[in-house]
Amino acid sequence: MPIQVKICDIPDDVARAAASKIAALIRQKPDAVLGLATGSTPVRTYAELVQMNREGLSFSRLTTFNLDEYWGLDGGHPQSYRYFMNHTFFDGTDIQLWNTHVPNGMAVDADLECRAFETGIRACGGVDLWLLGIGRNGHIAFNEPGCAPDSRTRLVDLTESTIAANSRFFERVEDVPKQALTAGIATICDARRILLLATGKDKARAIARAVQGVPHPSCPASFLQTHSDCTFILDREAASVVSD
Ligand code: F6R
Repeated sequence: MPIQVKICDIPDDVARAAASKIAALIRQKPDAVLGLATGSTPVRTYAELVQMNREGLSFSRLTTFNLDEYWGLDGGHPQSYRYFMNHTFFDGTDIQLWNTHVPNGMAVDADLECRAFETGIRACGGVDLWLLGIGRNGHIAFNEPGCAPDSRTRLVDLTESTIAANSRFFERVEDVPKQALTAGIATICDARRILLLATGKDKARAIARAVQGVPHPSCPASFLQTHSDCTFILDREAASVVSD
């Protein structure tokens, strides 16, 4: 099934389009299971959703699973993904924090934590919609080039390019953790729907490869072509290399 591509004029339109798709799902299924991402791309979408929640759309019955977490960072660390999610989204809503799941970067045993994460998703009936971003090298979650399409939640080493890209959030590049827990490609593709957001020129090549290249480990997002209900919402810049 080809990836469905929706092109918006500007990043704010991407956020509005994504939030309205998520809101439609929540209206239809108030106890939906959402898969979520961190990073700069979904921040505006979360702001839209917080606003919708204030205006009366309840999130109190939602369950959420986040894609990834830095290995070695506590949820109280300002650069941890748990902290990001609480501050950017969850704390501004009526979502029940105990129904939100971010892999524990301080778990004693990474393998056990990853297995528990996968079991948790299955026990909730699977993810209805997984919201994703994409890295400049085509990564999704922390599935870097070279990953397998049947990969599951696991501890991975981060590539130099991802460490460099993420160092903008840390004081020094040496402070960026070198490993992370990440949902795998198969974990993500088990979701009933996938919604990937991308904005800006620096994502354009990865988007073109993901949508139009042959599915290949060199661009992990290209594996999303194997999913039957996957939509990319892009601004004009991110869509600029996709050909008609
Ligand atoms: C975040 C994640 C990453 C980001 C990607 C893009 O949970 O899994 O794959 O989606 O690195 O990040 P931004 O949106 O900051 O460009």
